[in-house]
Amino acid sequence: MSTIKIAPSILSANFGSLAGDIALIETEADLLHIDIMDGHYVPNLTIGACVVRDIRKESKLFFESHLMVSNPDDLLDDFIAAGSDRIVVHPETCPHLNRTLSKIRESGIEAGLAVNPTTSFDALALSYIGSLVNSLTIMSVNPGFPAQKLIPSSIQKICDLRQHLKSLDLNQIQIEVDGGINLTTASEVVKAGADILVAGNAIFGAADPVKAIQDLKVSVSLAV
Ligand code: DX5
Ligand code: ZN
Repeated sequence: MSTIKIAPSILSANFGSLAGDIALIETEADLLHIDIMDGHYVPNLTIGACVVRDIRKESKLFFESHLMVSNPDDLLDDFIAAGSDRIVVHPETCPHLNRTLSKIRESGIEAGLAVNPTTSFDALALSYIGSLVNSLTIMSVNPGFPAQKLIPSSIQKICDLRQHLKSLDLNQIQIEVDGGINLTTASEVVKAGADILVAGNAIFGAADPVKAIQDLKVSVSLAV
């Protein structure tokens, strides 16, 4: 089997039975992607740290909290205490990115950066901050909503990022792709160099979420 990881996004789960939806995919998922939206940085509002704290009691999965909020620095303590295993921030929201990443890492968990479709990863100065970063998320849609179509230029961006990381000898940074992943796009992004695939609608929107993860795994294993 390939080493590509599948990260179901609970944005497309049923929030009325969230613990049950997570339990359903617990053994098949590689990690859990939790979308935190503030209705300000992105035009949608989801959940706060109290929900993460409570689902933490129900699951042993690696929890990745993707903060799509205007002032993530104000929320780091809460999401760390809630049991996140990785916190992903958007560089546009962090005026002192080194401080933000350092704080996450010093708490003993992983740090990730997510880049929007029009944000260049060159601007992140990875040669200087790369040692603080565990994962880089290519946003393959404009963040805010599930079930959007992958923006085609994302494929080239993933290839470019893979080359960039190689040139900087930062191959330990995992490349994640978030948005518009389905059976077709999954193999395309893996061929381009992705390590982690976030999928919301393709998993929780499917009649059988477990089979949907298995199908994605087959699709990516044929691509590598
Ligand atoms: C988009 C979120 C994604 C979303 C992906 O703003 O960050 O994590 O859940 O959903 P799908 O897989 O349905 O495009
Ligand atoms: Zn996300």
